[in-house]
Amino acid sequence: MIPIKDATGIARMREACAVAAFVLHELKKHVRPGVTTYDLDQLAKDLIASRGARSACFGYQIDERRFPAYSCLSVNEEVVHGIGSLKRVLRDGDIISLDIVVEHQGYIGDNAFTVPVGAVSPAIQKLLAVSREALALGIAQARVGNRIGDISHAIQVHCEKNGFGVVRDLVGHGVGVDMHEEPQIPNFGRKGTGAKIRPGMTLAIEPMVNLGTYRTKCLSDGWTIVTTDAAPSAHFEHTVLTREEGPEILTVPPAA
Ligand code: MF3
Ligand code: CO
Repeated sequence: MIPIKDATGIARMREACAVAAFVLHELKKHVRPGVTTYDLDQLAKDLIASRGARSACFGYQIDERRFPAYSCLSVNEEVVHGIGSLKRVLRDGDIISLDIVVEHQGYIGDNAFTVPVGAVSPAIQKLLAVSREALALGIAQARVGNRIGDISHAIQVHCEKNGFGVVRDLVGHGVGVDMHEEPQIPNFGRKGTGAKIRPGMTLAIEPMVNLGTYRTKCLSDGWTIVTTDAAPSAHFEHTVLTREEGPEILTVPPAA
């Protein structure tokens, strides 16, 4: 069953998503050569607290493990779920994926993007542009009457047309009271398949796109997902509300 949010749920989702977007955009301002991913994670912690929210990442449990950081910070070949570390110093030419998930008044907002550190190569610039476009194309398919596979297909086609690998091992998801609700939203798939999109769904659409192979593996820390060929990876994510009028991106920062 895919949860449908009522007016109250939608209002709360709007607020949680605005907080998540605020934190993400503030964090981005501090990405520069010389900063450690530990510093960025501490900043994320403080920014989330400043808005009266809670990190949905910290303590998030899979089997016996609990995620030890407040944000997911994934550098270069790290795809998602990177853990901030004093040993990871950002350098000119790196990319970093910032993924912020917050809980506010019982509802969760989830968003992410990948940003360059200083000047990056033309190949990486293209990876970022195509991945951002793929998210926009996926969101455009999140229309009432379409199916989840329409989102998946639009993302996959755009990435593969440009020669990039679309991650298979992780997928987008419904989001609301829980960080991961139904449906799963793969970034690959066939048009006209999967659940029908109805009004009042809140969907985290999140292409993870690799410069090389789509294959990934998990590091021995139990969390960090990396590309098997060590080529860089990008991640763009919004939480989207499906309305009769069309998809609405909820993870937009409040006007300053
Ligand atoms: N945006 C990620 C997701 O949807 C956030 C994971 S939080 C973590 O899975 F706790 F697992 F790190
Ligand atoms: Co997500």
